[in-house]
Amino acid sequence: MSTNDERLRQLDRMRAEALLGGGAVRIERQHAWGKLTARERLDLLLDPGSFVELDTFVTHRTTGFGLDENHILGDGVVTGHGTIDGRLVFVFSQDFTVFGGSLSEAYAEKICKVMDLALKVGAPIIGLNDSGGARIQEGVASLGGYAEIFLRNVLASGVVPQISVVMGPCAGGAVYSPAITDFTVMVEGSSYMFVTGPNVVRTVTHEEVDSEYLGGATTHTTKSGVAHLSAGDEAAALDAVRAILAHLPQNNLAEPRRVPVSDPVDRMDPQLDTIVPDDPRLPYDMRDVIDRVVDDGAFLEIQPGWAPNILIGFARLGGRSVGIVAQQPAVLAGALDIDASVKAARFVRTCDCFNVPLVTFVDVPGFMPGVAQEHGGIIKHGAKLLFAYCEATVPKLTVITRKAYGGAYDVMSSKHIRGDMNLAWPTAEIAVMGAAGAVNIIFKDAIAAADDPVAEQARLVAAYESEFANPYVAAARGYVDDVIKPSETRPRLIRSLEMLADKRDTNPRKKHGNIPL
Ligand code: HXC
Repeated sequence: MSTNDERLRQLDRMRAEALLGGGAVRIERQHAWGKLTARERLDLLLDPGSFVELDTFVTHRTTGFGLDENHILGDGVVTGHGTIDGRLVFVFSQDFTVFGGSLSEAYAEKICKVMDLALKVGAPIIGLNDSGGARIQEGVASLGGYAEIFLRNVLASGVVPQISVVMGPCAGGAVYSPAITDFTVMVEGSSYMFVTGPNVVRTVTHEEVDSEYLGGATTHTTKSGVAHLSAGDEAAALDAVRAILAHLPQNNLAEPRRVPVSDPVDRMDPQLDTIVPDDPRLPYDMRDVIDRVVDDGAFLEIQPGWAPNILIGFARLGGRSVGIVAQQPAVLAGALDIDASVKAARFVRTCDCFNVPLVTFVDVPGFMPGVAQEHGGIIKHGAKLLFAYCEATVPKLTVITRKAYGGAYDVMSSKHIRGDMNLAWPTAEIAVMGAAGAVNIIFKDAIAAADDPVAEQARLVAAYESEFANPYVAAARGYVDDVIKPSETRPRLIRSLEMLADKRDTNPRKKHGNIPL
């Protein structure tokens, strides 16, 4: 055999060895847990045959701790690039079969290399996380590696989309990188995120808790809001990544891809004309409104299980991606509380980073009152949403369906904070507060002095409603650009989006704003 043949065979042998990661036994264990391997996941995520691997031959540099003889090709993370729907993405996929997917210095360098490339060419970064955190045997070299990744996460933030999928027990540093990225998707029943696991919790705080309750998918999509979506299995989680990416551009200098649309752009929906109940205290489902307005009723809701009094997500109008923010009157009357404010603020900023126009549906009785909200900092957290809307320079369309009361009227993409096209339905009530609350304050003495206080209060409420509980006072001042029939909403939004397609707006030069965190 020639030397060249021998060298080719050696390369084949090494490639085959790299494919096995931590070995057949650990791969079997991974499968037995219902988890796929790092490479199988990439096969599902990327377009078939598109993956190009880098750094297959990197190994760790740790000495001692029995690791001198245990050099595994690739060292616990598979990195490279491929395509999703034909568009370039950079990927890293952590391999739990190699030292629990824990992060070494060399492993961190592999991730940093693809992150640097992604920034250089302006393409999204997708991280598939399945890792026990810092590799304990490496000590500070591993911590340094994490810091290098965090730095790149932050520098890439707002430049290229970053999406994390959590696909196993992720601890320590393995959760802080996802926390900085734009979206985090978890797999139900097999993925966990915590700074420290149940054993450490037991030792430090004496709390008995299992992994699922401490940091499972349900916890992070309903209680903490750390994760944006969860899926029943790994394939569905990776599908969710592809679905999110379809609404985002490659980078902050590009536009989201426009797709052909079969849903007529001039489609009216007469059902919308009766969707708001006559009694303003009765709820309705804002999802119905969104579904009836957007292309093909397709709404990719983000964080559906957390702060459900506000809805956020992606949809298309006339083939253009938009980010939707909408009160949900069916939950807490759509009031803005701490979680709803934080949820919507982050999403508004995500859309603004990536040139996704915002469409806001408003039916808000105000900020949520109460001791818990005040002590929890509703002032500071509500201000995040106000800040985010004020700062956003993407096209901003607003539809007031019913209540737009008080400070929440200002916050929810009002004309005053650079709303580009503000429309109101005839059912809109734009006022400082609801009629009952208003008359109880301004006519308190008159009501108390009346022969029949109840009748007097009802009379004043009716008078206030006819004066203020409508869109025309605002429309007379130009604070709404038009009052439209609900059935006309889709065509009006699409025409407004077309009108705003080349919108240019900027903020004053500054290092960065100081959003109240
Ligand atoms: C080295 C590790 C490891 C680690 C797991 N392994 N975590 N090796 N460093 N951090 C190895 C195990 O020894 C084992 O090796 C294999 O991975 C699988 O681990 P198991 O414990 O058997 O698996 P499981 O029962 O599923 O538990 C997974 C786990 C647990 C929950 C992740 O291993 C765990 O709690 N690990 C430590 C988590 C942690 O505290 N990491 C440091 C965080 S500090 P064998 O050879 O048996 O297969 C940190 C600093 C950065 O990350 C902070 C930045 C802000």
